[in-house]
Amino acid sequence: MASSSSPQRLFHLLSLILLLFAFCSISESSQFCDAGIGYGESCGVSSSSSTKLLIKGGTVVNAHEMEVADVYVEDGIIVAVRPNIKVGDDVTVLDATGKFVMPGGIDPHTHLDMEFMGSGTIDDFFSGQAAALAGGTTMHIDFVIPVNGSLLSGLEAYEKKSKKSCMDYGFHMAITKWDEVVSKEMEIMVNEKGINSFKFFMAYKGSFMINDELLLQAFKKCKSLGALAMVHAENGDAVYEGQRRMIELGITGPEGHALSSPQWLNFRKRLEGEATARAIKLAGFVNTPLYVVHVMSIDAMEEISKARKSGLKVIGEPVVSGLVLNDSWLWDPDFITAAKYVMSPPIRAAGHGKALQAALSMGTLQLVGTDHCTFNSTQKALGIDDFQKIPNGVNGIEERMHLVWDTMVESGQISVTDYVRVTSTECARIFNIYPRKGAIRAGSDADIIILNPNSSFEISAKSHHSRSDTNVYEGWRGKEATAPSLGGPWWL
Ligand SMILES: *[C@@H]1O[C@H](CO)[C@@H](O)[C@H](O)[C@H]1NC(C)=O
Ligand SMILES: *[C@@H]1O[C@H](CO)[C@@H](O)[C@H](O)[C@H]1NC(C)=O
Ligand SMILES: *[C@@H]1O[C@H](CO)[C@@H](O)[C@H](O)[C@H]1NC(C)=O
Ligand SMILES: *[C@@H]1O[C@H](CO)[C@@H](O)[C@H](O)[C@H]1NC(C)=O
Ligand SMILES: [Zn+2]
Ligand SMILES: [Zn+2]
Repeated sequence: MASSSSPQRLFHLLSLILLLFAFCSISESSQFCDAGIGYGESCGVSSSSSTKLLIKGGTVVNAHEMEVADVYVEDGIIVAVRPNIKVGDDVTVLDATGKFVMPGGIDPHTHLDMEFMGSGTIDDFFSGQAAALAGGTTMHIDFVIPVNGSLLSGLEAYEKKSKKSCMDYGFHMAITKWDEVVSKEMEIMVNEKGINSFKFFMAYKGSFMINDELLLQAFKKCKSLGALAMVHAENGDAVYEGQRRMIELGITGPEGHALSSPQWLNFRKRLEGEATARAIKLAGFVNTPLYVVHVMSIDAMEEISKARKSGLKVIGEPVVSGLVLNDSWLWDPDFITAAKYVMSPPIRAAGHGKALQAALSMGTLQLVGTDHCTFNSTQKALGIDDFQKIPNGVNGIEERMHLVWDTMVESGQISVTDYVRVTSTECARIFNIYPRKGAIRAGSDADIIILNPNSSFEISAKSHHSRSDTNVYEGWRGKEATAPSLGGPWWL
């Protein structure tokens, strides 16, 4: 049972929300709402009380440099960053000696409160964001899912869902079908709603998938609007065919999702590589940039690498599950254990994760997301007799910062400055919110985390803040990473 449901904890979460809203100022939030970034309903109601905070003596890390300095914050905005800042008695002072003071994490890929596969993700904008904050992520970008194909109705629904918010967030728009109405609605999204990134599905045959002809039109539309095209790249026709064959062979358990014989495994990762290559070629043909979400396999990563070397503007986003997990759990005889690892594209065999880590460290892949899309064990059990009915998705919004530190920085694969780049700055740059987000410098939002490199705790469903009763990172280790200017460590 997730401990976040205890009344005591809930009280702490609620007090966080009050604190947070006190930091939002009217002019700032309305300007930002125009850019497709929301702040939760109460944000316009700015409190007159001012909050002053000095973070002293920490190592301040930005994407390209780090230095020992103090950071002075007033009303949620960074006012100064330099050594030895002197302040009056009315300022709260935090000693950060020996710790890293960094921009809060920005997760480019989440699904909070989403209806999917006959179920709804267990984390909404409240519990998902509480989990994010507890794990050092101070902003996320979620995907609006159209209602019956309509982008406007979809946005309306997500504006309602996100009223529970307790931190900053933004929206991408998923496109689940393609026609003239959708094309027109995209114009409204860009010109009036500030949503500039659109995700297209090359998978989920029979529901979200669009074919190449339509994808080409969609890319052309993105180009004409100056919007960023994103793709879920898998060959939907072939995945469908493969799944059908597994069922015919009588393989109905979670291992069928990864496709259980080595031959099929090989096949399914190639389907990701194939679709990635196809999307890259179509986007290149139209001459518009492409963002590939959840890069899970060597095959897909290599296509991105080739494209970037040839000068195409392609961005590759690995997700934490793909970087650190392998498919071994999918063969666990316990259904609930195996089912919690089911996501699409599937988590790959050992070896893929290591290769994706190397690609991230070399800059072939640019930023890390989570695809946080969490279902609890009761919901996963919808697929107990047929793996095709297991709601797809894993957790990660709370664990991303910890796991990237643990696997990339601790192992020496990337520097601390690179850590800031791949967890925060690069995302802020790609989605046009830099340097307001993703930087510790005067004028930026005080979305700051303080990470203690000498601390260590064990990740567990028993102590995490998601509403799920399971955690795919059970037993992995994290560092204490608090967001002091946002009221932390409030969850303790
Ligand atoms: C962590 O350990 C390093 C190396 O021993 C030390 O320099 C630093 O001050 C320590 N930080 C904290 C917060 O204890
Ligand atoms: C979706 O659109 C179809 C066709 O326009 C309509 O018949 C149906 O009632 C709509 N469903 C919802 C949930 O709005
Ligand atoms: C695959 O994952 C399992 C479970 O987390 C782990 O014990 C094993 O070491 C991993 N295999 C490799 C080769 O990394
Ligand atoms: C999972 O969530 C559903 C819907 O909120 C709830 O009814 C169920 O009891 C939960 N299961 C567990 C094991 O927490
Ligand atoms: Zn996807
Ligand atoms: Zn996703």
